[in-house]
Amino acid sequence: MTDTTKPVLTVDHATVVYESDDGLACAVNDISFTVAPGQILGIVGESGCGKSTLAYAIMHLLPANAALVEGKIQVQGVNVYRLTEDELRRFRWQHVSMVFQSALVTLNPVLTVGHQFREIFRIHAPALSRGAVGERIEELLELVRIHPQHLRSYPHELSGGMRQRIAIAMAIALDPDLVIMDEPTTALDAVVQREILEEIRRIQAIKHFAVVFISHDLRLIRYISSAVMVMYAGRAVETGSADRFLHPAAHHPYTRGLLDSLPEWNVDRFQMRGIPGSPPDLAHPISGCAFRPRCPIARSECSLAPPTLRDVGAGKIACIDVQSLAKGNEAHG
Ligand SMILES: Nc1ncnc2c1ncn2[C@@H]1O[C@H](COP(=O)(O)OP(=O)(O)OP(=O)(O)O)[C@@H](O)[C@H]1O
Ligand SMILES: [Mg+2]
Repeated sequence: MTDTTKPVLTVDHATVVYESDDGLACAVNDISFTVAPGQILGIVGESGCGKSTLAYAIMHLLPANAALVEGKIQVQGVNVYRLTEDELRRFRWQHVSMVFQSALVTLNPVLTVGHQFREIFRIHAPALSRGAVGERIEELLELVRIHPQHLRSYPHELSGGMRQRIAIAMAIALDPDLVIMDEPTTALDAVVQREILEEIRRIQAIKHFAVVFISHDLRLIRYISSAVMVMYAGRAVETGSADRFLHPAAHHPYTRGLLDSLPEWNVDRFQMRGIPGSPPDLAHPISGCAFRPRCPIARSECSLAPPTLRDVGAGKIACIDVQSLAKGNEAHG
């Protein structure tokens, strides 16, 4: 039985470093957050800001040249870095699972869909009878609206959208408490993308698992999430309820840039502005605020130390100028 009072996921000062020929790159830098049972946390940020690295760190699936060098990650109160390989294998499907950008990462191309579903239950729920497994698989397929005839299909015989639905069904096969979805719809066209997002919301409302939903697209994040974390150059620069990203609120200048880039069907706002410049190379040391070279309100003190997250009403912003950001917003509202 899930404890509804404790967070499903606790990330506490997590820092992940890659080692490569170029030196060390700090892709996740002192990030802390929690996810409550049944909550959908959206993580948004530009390519290379460390979103996938954070996801892999939570799954304890970092590549050999990366390590969680500081901090702690707990799922259901269990430190995932204290588990043995065997414990981890079980833990990953039963408590936390992952949906990747392409279902082809999850699905084995040479095995039928049915075979792959049965494997999950054979390994993780060996006590279930053949009949019970069959019923369970049919229920899962019904949930993601895939006809059972496709159990005989190979992944290449299915469309991208169908494969992603199957990957979602597999991720929730053992009723995990937390599902991490790393750009699960990015490879799909806009119509299918919308359909899959609606499916995720519908299934999540039935099953109540918590979700960490990762995307570079703030529109998707606002649509699906209850809480949002904005990442820039490995750090969390803003956190808060999804509402804050729909209505006038104080925002980090980077978030402001993301919001201003959204095409809004409002004549006054139909003016797409991007964020000038590009994100820093994480393989080079960054002093002070990493957003400084692109920030319209940067000043000399911004180079001193990276700002930490500070409260602004229903959210937190990591900016030295947090007070004037909050005031500016009052003036606009
Ligand atoms: N295998 C690797 N070896 C060395 N450095 C890496 C490796 N993978 C990622 N990095 C570094 O970590 C940073 C973050 O990468 P990550 O894949 O987590 O970003 P992301 O936010 O998921 O980007 P995207 O939106 O493109 O998926 C990169 O900018 C790069 O500096
Ligand atoms: Mg990624």
